[in-house]
Order: sequence, then C-alpha cells, then structure tokens
Amino acid sequence: MSNQRSYRVAVLGGDGIGPEVTSAALEVVAAVGVELDTTPFDLGAARYLRDGFVLDDATLEELRSFDAILLGAIGPAIGDARVPAGLLERGLLLKLRFGLDLYVNYRPFRGVAGSIAQDCEFAIVRENTEGPYVGEGGVLRYGTAHEVATQGSVNTRFGVERCVRYAFARANQLARKRLTLVHKTNVLTFAGDLWQRVVNEVGSSFTDVIVDYQHVDAACIYLVESPQRYGVIVTDNLFGDILSDLAGALTGGIGFAASANLNPERSSASIFEPVHGAAHDLAGTGRANPLAAISSAALMLEHLGEVDAALRVARAVADFDGDVAALGTAGVTQQLRERL
Ligand code: IPM
Ligand code: MN
Repeated sequence: MSNQRSYRVAVLGGDGIGPEVTSAALEVVAAVGVELDTTPFDLGAARYLRDGFVLDDATLEELRSFDAILLGAIGPAIGDARVPAGLLERGLLLKLRFGLDLYVNYRPFRGVAGSIAQDCEFAIVRENTEGPYVGEGGVLRYGTAHEVATQGSVNTRFGVERCVRYAFARANQLARKRLTLVHKTNVLTFAGDLWQRVVNEVGSSFTDVIVDYQHVDAACIYLVESPQRYGVIVTDNLFGDILSDLAGALTGGIGFAASANLNPERSSASIFEPVHGAAHDLAGTGRANPLAAISSAALMLEHLGEVDAALRVARAVADFDGDVAALGTAGVTQQLRERL
C-alpha cells in the first residue's frame, strides 16, 4: 500500500527511445498506486542540437531538491558528428552524478529465461564519483609526434569506504551473503591495495558476509562460466562500467538492465536510469523494451520508501514471460499493469 504521499520526481526522458520507455515506467508506477508529481526536463542531444544547452549550475541545483530523478537515455544517433564525443557524457550525465554526489551506481541483474545466466541473481555496486572518470590529467604537445596524454585514476579513502559500506550492507540483506571485490590489484597496486584494505576493514563488521576477491580479467571468465557464484560485486567506476555491460549481456541483454545512481544519505536527488542507451534506430517504432526503465522505476520506489510497491513491480518484471519483440513497448507495459 502506498502511504498516499505524492513524490516530486524530475523526469528526463532524453533522446531516442528514452521518452518512450520512461513513460512506460511512469504508467507502471501509476498502476501500482504510487502518486508522483512529475516535472519534465528537456535535456540531452536533441536539446543541445536545438539551442546548445547541456546543463548549467542553476538546473543542477533545481534537480538536487527533487525526491528522485527518472532518466530515459541521453545521446545522439550513432555517427551524428554534430555532438562532440564526451560532451553529453561529461557535461550532463557525469556532471549530474558528480554534482549530486551519487556515489553508488547500483546495478542488479537477474538472468531471464534462455539467457546464459538464467535464474542467477547478483548485483554490481560500482563506485560512481571517482576512478578514471574524474577527468584528471591532460594533454601536452597536442597533435605533435611528442604528444603526451595522461588520465589518472582518483581513489580516496573516503570515496572507496562509503561505496564499500553500501556494498556490504546490500550483501548482508541477501540470502546469499557474498561480496566479491573485483579489481586489478596485481597491476594497479596503489589503488588496488587501498580497495583491498578497505574491504578487509569494513568486512570485519559484517561477519555474516563471505568475502572474496577476483582480478577483473578473471572475473570476466567466471561471470560467463559460473554467474551463480556471485552475490554483490563491488568495484571501481571503470571496471563497474565494463562489467555491467557484460552482466547485462549474460542476463538477457541490456534491454533488461536497470540502474540506480544513489546518494544513500539522501542529501540530493538520486537518478534512476536503464543501463541501455538511446537506440535511435528503435525510436518511434514502438519496439523498445521498456523493462529496464520499469525495473529502474522499481529501484526508485524502493529508494522513496515505497518498498511494497517496489517489490510488486520487481516481481511483475521477474514473472514476465511474454515475447518482448512481439508485444512491443505498449504490449509489454499493458501486460505488466495487468499483473500488478
Ligand atoms: C553507463 C554509461 C555511462 C558510463 C556513459 C554514457 C558516460 O556507459 O551508465 O554505464 O560510462 O558510466
Ligand atoms: Mn556503461
């Protein structure tokens, strides 16, 4: 049951299939009886191409105070050279993640029928505000034969620890209380050692959680060979980005993968978004899979404290056995609503 409160949610449908899957998700939230007071924000590639706007500080501050942000997808069509590489990634998506201090990127996976990881359930907790994503470094002697490009990875004790704490808390809630640190401690010795020590220390107060460690390259093998072994994987920003695409492919395709960019202390609005991109080739065809956006909305409901509604939506997605390709966006959404 909803507690009848109405939540203020900023909706960033974005580009390509983003607006379609976002409205499907909002329909499902309405069907589960949670009232949202939504405010649309026109941001993304289409907006940039129209008037050059990406994201300014005033808009960032406005977004901060919402109860949550529901995001569809941001990005131009593949090959559209009018949008420089990295402009929207750094100027919008990462500016939001960093600016709102969304330090956990929580990505749960559940293998759908017929996938390599069928019936396996695990989650990736990706550090979301540090690592190679901070934009540290620069270029010298640009365009010459002596060009130098550096791009450092920033790992702070504070940043690693708060992410690892969140991961342990998640692992502790599972039936399978297992946490796997994934890194590359044999090569990235400075950062790896910090991550490993933090996991050891934080783990000492979660005595029920079984902890192990894998190098990221080996983890790519084990994820494919025995995905059932995982509970929570905790890892840095870049490894988490790569592993979550692999995990998406293993569990049924990126069309099912949900994510939550979280500020667990709720000092600013968290962002809920499908892992997939804008898929401009599918936009307007009615064929986009809305399940990742709907699962992301379930994560939003959980974060808002609507735990019962969140469970009902998550269960409806898990029980869904229809043919996504045949049903299309509207058909999938309709079937889910009927099952709630
Ligand atoms: C993701 C995306 C983003 C990332 C890009 C679009 C900046 O790949 O959310 O996984 O690298 O984090
Ligand atoms: Mn990614």
